[in-house]
Amino acid sequence: MRAVDIILRKRDGGALSRDEIRFFVAGVTDGTLPDYQASAFLMAVLLRGMTAEETAWLTEAMVDSGVRVDLGDIPGPKVDKHSTGGVGDKTSLVLAPLAAACGLVVPMMSGRGLGHTGGTLDKLEAIPGFAVRLSIAELKAALSSVGCAMIGQTDAVAPADRKLYALRDVTGTVESIALISASIMSKKIAEGIDALVLDVKTGSGAFMKTAADARRLAGSLVSIGNACGVKTEAIVTSTEAPLGCAVGNALEVIECLEVLKGRGPADVIDVSAALTARMLVLGGVAADDADGERRARGALASGAGLDRFRRIIENQGGDPRVVDDYHRLPSAPERHVVRAPRSGYLTTLDARLVGEASVALGAGRDRVEDHVDPAVGIVLAARPGDQLREGDSVLELHYRDRARLDRALMFAERAIGVGDTRPAPRPLILEEVHQ
Ligand code: URA
Repeated sequence: MRAVDIILRKRDGGALSRDEIRFFVAGVTDGTLPDYQASAFLMAVLLRGMTAEETAWLTEAMVDSGVRVDLGDIPGPKVDKHSTGGVGDKTSLVLAPLAAACGLVVPMMSGRGLGHTGGTLDKLEAIPGFAVRLSIAELKAALSSVGCAMIGQTDAVAPADRKLYALRDVTGTVESIALISASIMSKKIAEGIDALVLDVKTGSGAFMKTAADARRLAGSLVSIGNACGVKTEAIVTSTEAPLGCAVGNALEVIECLEVLKGRGPADVIDVSAALTARMLVLGGVAADDADGERRARGALASGAGLDRFRRIIENQGGDPRVVDDYHRLPSAPERHVVRAPRSGYLTTLDARLVGEASVALGAGRDRVEDHVDPAVGIVLAARPGDQLREGDSVLELHYRDRARLDRALMFAERAIGVGDTRPAPRPLILEEVHQ
C-alpha cells in the first residue's frame, strides 16, 4: 500500500477501506508517514468528507494507535465532558472539579489550542508546574486520590490524535466533521470512561458555523460513542461572542478561579452548571437535570469545587498558591485598550475575530513547534447588549510584543459592532442531542 494512493483516492472523492485508514494511522503513529503526506491527507478529508463508516474506522484506528485504559479497578462512575472548541470556552476547568466534588470520577483527556480556539491543556500549563502528561499509573493514582485528572494525549494513549491534532491546528484542516469526530472520540474511548457529555459549539467562534452543521457533528459524535459502549449525549451551545470575559490562557484560569469562588460571569456559570448536571445524570449521581444543577451549584456555593481544583493542581505538580494569589500566574507587561468607535449598543463581539486576535498576540500557534505565551490575551470590558459611549473601553489586549499587537488589532477592531438598537439576548443552550 502507498500513502500517495490513499491521498489520491480521497482527493478525488472516493471512499477508503478500513485497511487503508489503518495503514495511514499506523504510519502517522510510528513516524513512517511524513508530515507532508499526513497534511495532504487531512486536507483531502476536509474537502471531500468521510462516510459514517469511514469516520468510525478512523476513530477505531486512532484508538488502537495506543492502549485503552482500563479503569475497572477504580470505584465510581467515570464520566467526562469534551467541547468541540469555542472562544473563551473554559468550562472544563470549572466542571471537572465540580463533577469530582459531586461524586464522579473524571479522567479528562483534553487538547491544546486548535485554530482560533483555546485548549484546556494550554490553559492548565499556564499554572506554574502543572504537568499534563501523566503515565497511566499516575492517571489512575490521581483518580483514586483526587477523583479527577486533567491530561493530554500521550505516547501510550491516543498518540495518533496527538500528532494529527498538532498538524490540523496549523494546516487549516480543523473544520471537518469526520476529523473532529475521530479526534474527540478516539481520546474519549481510549481513556476508559462509562459516559460522556459533549458541548458542541455553533456560531462565529465555533468550527461549525450553522446549527445544522453542529447538529450533524453532534449526531456523529453521539453515534460513535454509543456504538463503542460509552453512554454519550451532546448539548449544542451558541458561541457568537466569547464565553465569559477572558480569552487567553492565564486570563482564563483566573476567570475559572473566580467562577469557582462564586463570582465569575453568569454565562460561564450557567453553561458549566448545565454540563455538570448532565454528567451527574449520566453517571447516575443525580436523578434529573434539576437535581444535577442543584448539586453542581451547591458544590460551587460551598467551595467544594474550588477545594477540588486546588487538590487537582497540587496533585499534578502545579503551584496551588495561584488559587489565592493570581500574581503567581504569568502576566503580560503591556495593555492596549480598543474603544467604542461611536455611541450606541454593542451589537456584535465576533468570537472568531476575538479568537484570531488572541492567537495573533501569541496565545495560539502558527507552526507546530511554536510555544504559546500563557500571559497574553484579551479581557472583554463590554458584552453584547451593553450601552456604550464613544471612546468607552470594549476590549483590553494584554500583550508583550508591539508587532504582535498590530496584527491582533486588525482582528480586534473588526470584531466590534455598535448600533442604535439593543440586540435581543440570545439563548446559550440551544438543544440536546441523544442517540
Ligand atoms: N477537540 C478535539 O479534541 N478535537 C477536535 O478536532 C476539536 C475539538
